[in-house]
Amino acid sequence: MADEPIPTSPQEPTHRVSTSGDIEVSTYLEIAQEREGVRGKSRKDGALSPPRHEAIAVLDFGSQYSRLIARRIREHHVYCEILPPDATREAVAHLDLRGIILSGGPASVYEEDAPLAPAWVFDAGVPVLGICYGMQLIAHQLGGKVSGESGSHAREYGFAVIRKNERSPLFDGLDDEMPVWMSHGDRIDATPPGFRSIAYSENSPIAAMANDAGIFGIQFHPEVAHTPQGSQMLRNFTHGVCGLRGTWTPGNFVAETVEHIRTQVGDGKVICALSGGVDSAVTAKLVHEAVGDQLTCIFVNNGLLRREEPERVRDVFQRSVGLKLVYVDATERFLSVLAGVTDPEEKRKRIGAEFIDVFEEQAGALGEVDFLAQGTLYPDVIESQTSDSSAAHKIKTHHNVGGLPDRMRLKLVEPLRFLFKDEVRLVGAELGMPPVVLNRQPFPGPGLAIRVIGDVTYDKLEVLRAADWIVMDEIKADGLYDKLWQSFAVLTDTRTVGVMGDQRTYQHVVAIRAVTSEDAMTADWARLPYDTLARISNRIVNEVASVNRVVYDITSKPPGTIEWE
Ligand code: XMP
Repeated sequence: MADEPIPTSPQEPTHRVSTSGDIEVSTYLEIAQEREGVRGKSRKDGALSPPRHEAIAVLDFGSQYSRLIARRIREHHVYCEILPPDATREAVAHLDLRGIILSGGPASVYEEDAPLAPAWVFDAGVPVLGICYGMQLIAHQLGGKVSGESGSHAREYGFAVIRKNERSPLFDGLDDEMPVWMSHGDRIDATPPGFRSIAYSENSPIAAMANDAGIFGIQFHPEVAHTPQGSQMLRNFTHGVCGLRGTWTPGNFVAETVEHIRTQVGDGKVICALSGGVDSAVTAKLVHEAVGDQLTCIFVNNGLLRREEPERVRDVFQRSVGLKLVYVDATERFLSVLAGVTDPEEKRKRIGAEFIDVFEEQAGALGEVDFLAQGTLYPDVIESQTSDSSAAHKIKTHHNVGGLPDRMRLKLVEPLRFLFKDEVRLVGAELGMPPVVLNRQPFPGPGLAIRVIGDVTYDKLEVLRAADWIVMDEIKADGLYDKLWQSFAVLTDTRTVGVMGDQRTYQHVVAIRAVTSEDAMTADWARLPYDTLARISNRIVNEVASVNRVVYDITSKPPGTIEWE
């Protein structure tokens, strides 16, 4: 066993539920796929290939931290891709490959079906860095000795201190003694021929090893925050060992992507569904930079948006950005398909299906259209990668491409499919998009319908909009908006007795939800100041008719979810 879950790291969640909050449009596409029975199909035709940058390939052996490795590498402005552990040499042919990282993973090299590194990795002529299980693979496959948990006192979990044995480019500028995060059962007992130990810890004489051909192995995790010098170590690998220069910058990305979109689209027509969220906004802006008025955006007001939101979206995109925008007020249609529906899943399905219908009608009215632009992000792409290997079996298939375009015969323009969420924001800033768009807290596609518990009516939505407005107002006034992943009000289906002006009242309970999170997969309830909560509560019961009680949700995710439905 090489890579057991590391407890309580603030860096990365232990399981994956959804990519982020801003997946509204993709969620609709998912629903469309279900409806059309085309789940899992992905139209690759017309999809952008990544700009050809000096790149690192991360072969993912199933570690929960593989994405974190990729994010750390990207933070050093180096392009990298995560690939299945059995990726072929052809799978990296599109990259200007300069280095390979073998990730950690839960397997032990001695297990029967343990995934091995493909042979081409070791004669690709580029440096290789094995992390944890990746290091054990190097030892195992190149003739060293790995011992299992039963063999010796191999286990190391948690903090450890490593000490350098010799100078190594991997440790350039780093302390001779370094705290690191270990998480392994097996350990290396003998290096392969040509390798030597370059660092040791109390439990491992070979905590890091290297040969003269640029192959390195480290038993600890440099990608987690618990290894304070880990990020610099990864940079030493990319810049020092692989000789990369760090050209993966938002500026370069914008220039190259705009060029790519121009080539891909030619003089074709593109449509894009705007949701108000950052992903679709940056997608639209990039496509607009590339092909101007060949792009038409469609913004569907489903009547489930927050107060002033439809106006804000139109204001930003139509007036400031200058996009050709078709605005559809479909409030009545959505409310009528929701009438009497209380089941959360049924609400989502109906909203998604209605969206598709409205979108298709509007797109049809535009005449011949060739492309659909959508804000698929890199985590979705990683999720869709399939492999026959056992390690990759764990990766869920993510279904947010296909469906709508399949039915409408549109080719996809997905300029963000190589970006993580934080990179999307940087690209948006590079494009001069306003903070109100880039820093917007995520908002779910089904909108307020999943925050009105029980059946959804116009009147209840109005109550919720009023309460939500106050939450937002106070959170912003206290400078908390940007510190929270999400903050909002929920209209519960509970009524309670209260007293107002000596009168008995029997009115709605509103719940306040505010969470901190890295990426919505896990979340913690926010410790909002009591004074902020007091003002919110006071204003809601005074300003929102028919609400007489306010409660604060102190549930983390897991076991709760961020939204109530
Ligand atoms: P949960 O409630 O699952 O939400 O913890 C995780 C994140 O996803 C957002 N969310 C959605 N976004 N369509 C979306 O586009 C949906 O159906 C949906 N449901 C939840 C939620 O706001 C949070 O950011």
